[in-house]
Amino acid sequence: MSEDFGVKMENKVYYPDPSLKETLRMGDYEAIYNEFIQDPQAYWEKVANELEWIQKWDKVMEWNHPYARWFVNSKLNITQNCLDRHVHNGKKNKVAIIWVGDGGEEQVFTYRQLYREVMKCANGLKSLGVKKGDAVCIYMPLVPEQIIVTLACARIGAVHSIVFAGFGTQALNSRIKDANAKIVVTADATIRRGKRVELKAIVDEAVVNAPSVEKIVVLRRMTPPMELYSEMEIDYHEMLSNVSECEAEVMDAEDPLFILYTSGTTGPAKGIVHTCGGYMVGAYYSTRNVFDLRDNDVFWCTADPGWITGHSYIIYGPLLNGGTILITESTPDYPDAGVWWSIIDEFDVTIFYTAPTAIRMFMRMGAEWPNKYDLGSLRLLGSVGEPLNPEAFEWYYHVIGKERCPIVDTWWQTETGMHMITTMAGQPMKPGFIGKPLPGVVADVVDKNGDPVPAGTGGFLVIKEPWPSMMRTVRNNDERYRQYWTTIGKYYTAGDLAVKDDDGYIMILGRSDDIIIVSGHNIGSAEVESALVSNAAVAEAAVIGLPNALKGQILKAFVILRTGSSPSDKLKSELIYHVRMSLGPIAMPSEIEFVDSLPKTRSGKIMRRVLRAKELGMDPGDVSTLED
Ligand code: WTA
Repeated sequence: MSEDFGVKMENKVYYPDPSLKETLRMGDYEAIYNEFIQDPQAYWEKVANELEWIQKWDKVMEWNHPYARWFVNSKLNITQNCLDRHVHNGKKNKVAIIWVGDGGEEQVFTYRQLYREVMKCANGLKSLGVKKGDAVCIYMPLVPEQIIVTLACARIGAVHSIVFAGFGTQALNSRIKDANAKIVVTADATIRRGKRVELKAIVDEAVVNAPSVEKIVVLRRMTPPMELYSEMEIDYHEMLSNVSECEAEVMDAEDPLFILYTSGTTGPAKGIVHTCGGYMVGAYYSTRNVFDLRDNDVFWCTADPGWITGHSYIIYGPLLNGGTILITESTPDYPDAGVWWSIIDEFDVTIFYTAPTAIRMFMRMGAEWPNKYDLGSLRLLGSVGEPLNPEAFEWYYHVIGKERCPIVDTWWQTETGMHMITTMAGQPMKPGFIGKPLPGVVADVVDKNGDPVPAGTGGFLVIKEPWPSMMRTVRNNDERYRQYWTTIGKYYTAGDLAVKDDDGYIMILGRSDDIIIVSGHNIGSAEVESALVSNAAVAEAAVIGLPNALKGQILKAFVILRTGSSPSDKLKSELIYHVRMSLGPIAMPSEIEFVDSLPKTRSGKIMRRVLRAKELGMDPGDVSTLED
């Protein structure tokens, strides 16, 4: 291993129970990968044929670098596959959603009930004038209605843009404006650790200067009900129509299904656009095979639908497979550190999918919490969002999985729509390594010219061939889309640094750009810097990520003040609060340092790399372009 990356390649391997090879759908990974690589299009066509289409494709794929069309000229509606297909095929009374509230309250929706709610909501949205192609912004807590509204949009062909309810005013405002959202659906509040956290108030501020918004639909959960003042505001339940059928809009495979914003290296968040057909196939396929989802599973993905993980593995993937999902508005440490394990025990959760930051938090809280509960229902564990460090892997494997459960550490991105690299259940597991590409995916680690690097040498992670659920464009910025496919040869550049071992197992070393991953959430340096600079006291700012044992990385900001403002602890707190209000708590710097100057290139670009090296006492590398 080249020392520059400072990682040690551990040699530990966990060999799974050999019987898994027979019992799991992809137990024989090598054989299935081979089948794929012999004829990729035939492979994907077979997957697509497992789903229902209104009209099938003329051609599986058309590749006109960097633009792909999948299932060309086919017609479908994803909700027919998520709902109608199950309701009409014997799963009417199967549980689709189990919801657990912050205070332990419960709600259950069978497929029949979910279907009816989606129909009502879809008709309701139509009655507000929402049509195919219109954008609807969903800014809601993790309640069943968040999923219902999402599916209702898909039913009528409206493009949903879910914004995580932890985002602040400025972040919400820019996403509403970029998507040109006609409707914003929100709730009065969310409940976190027993306390009410206002959401509607944030929407009120975020719609100022957002002229596209015609109506705000409010799910009123609290008593007494929040007053609605203006004509623009509509009660969620009043919007619901009594009609129980809503015909599925006929969508072309390449019509947009949703926009989801993710942090960029420069400027504001990027609106990643996914389309109906390819995304459906990718979400269905990966859920079915990576989690080996079965009819009697209870699948718990702890993400929020506001992130891609929630889109693909709370909503679409499991419902496309007719699965039972568990969701909860609760936080992992309230009312005590055992609450999540008690949920697994109580509902016999079989598949548990979470983020390394949560695992490290549980490690810190101690094994006595999970040990109080019976976790015997679990059969498969998953991880996503940031590197699962070997220590966290070990703890997850021994304490939660009791050495029985395979762990799938899944690498993928908002842009990829589905899992791309993992160690398929049944394969030997190597702590610290994500594993190999899924059958259907061609991934490699290459140098900047696109040539594969030898095992043990770090390089750039690329995807070499198009796949069905790849993003199709960046909203209002197709140039940015093309960059993904033109930076390193003709490959899709993920922006991650990686290394392979002799067996082809891939380890992720971190980002190659200025995206910082805090607790599994992508934060762009540029976004936080611009939030800081929007404060009257700040002239300039540079934000870097520093390693942190719990959160993976934390944010440190270097701030140059305007003349007239002087450094103080009070000002530090004010600036942190300012970022919290504009972007949300996840983007808050943990540390602020006031400085007189920032290292810059002669062309004026801040060299964050130099700041990071100085902070960590490392060699800053090539500084020949440094101005001063
Ligand atoms: C990182 C989340 C290591 C990676 C699904 C990627 C990971 C970015 C893993 C995408 C993993 C995601 N191991 N790193 N298993 N999964 N990442 O768009 O840097 O929120 O580029 O998608 O998260 O984050 P995004």
